[in-house]
Amino acid sequence: MFFKQLFEPESSTYTYLLACEHTKQAILIDPVASEIDVYMDLLEQHDLSLVYSLDTHVHADHVTGAKLLKERAGSKAVLHRNSGVSCGDILVTDGCLLRIGEIEVEARYTPGHTNACTSYVIDNMVFTGDALLIDGCGRTDFQEGNSGTLYDSIHNQLFTLPAETIVYPGHDYKGRTQSTIGHERESNARLGNNQTREGFIELMKNLDLPYPAKIDIALPANKACGTTVNVNAKK
Ligand code: FE2
Repeated sequence: MFFKQLFEPESSTYTYLLACEHTKQAILIDPVASEIDVYMDLLEQHDLSLVYSLDTHVHADHVTGAKLLKERAGSKAVLHRNSGVSCGDILVTDGCLLRIGEIEVEARYTPGHTNACTSYVIDNMVFTGDALLIDGCGRTDFQEGNSGTLYDSIHNQLFTLPAETIVYPGHDYKGRTQSTIGHERESNARLGNNQTREGFIELMKNLDLPYPAKIDIALPANKACGTTVNVNAKK
């Protein structure tokens, strides 16, 4: 399997390019609009055809590349049915399977950071978006966030994966690129070491995070698959 982890520094977003070596069919997980040329070059360089772009959720910190990829690479936009994004081509629910050549992608519904968060399991890897981060997790104070729901998602849908499963998050702000389920279960600062549901809810309530810098631009754009909307335009 072809695998490449890409990093967009402005929002510290990780994007993942995976492809079947035999059919040359590819997917991108969490593409960023501003990086479209990088993706197009990579696809061309490795002779890949992009079948799907998958968004783990409706992002508040960057604009998705889904629409541009649809236009330039002919891919289909995939995201969860609860996203409220009507321009999605495939709206997945928990347990949905996508096949790209020899690669099987399993969607696992992991709400709590948003109500449409989906993690994708491929072989011994899980792409967790902003649900589970390395030594942390997504915030729960915007976009229908709910700490109790996030705790349940992580415990029931992610921590139940084999300990050696490699965790590839949607972001990292300290340069770390991967973790494992076993490691996060043990030592994640918010959820590890047998953290209780009540303890986690209390901890999340007291984080006191700043208002997300790009949310007013990113959310309307991402609800339209990445079309930048002038939020100041008078109706
Ligand atoms: Fe997010």
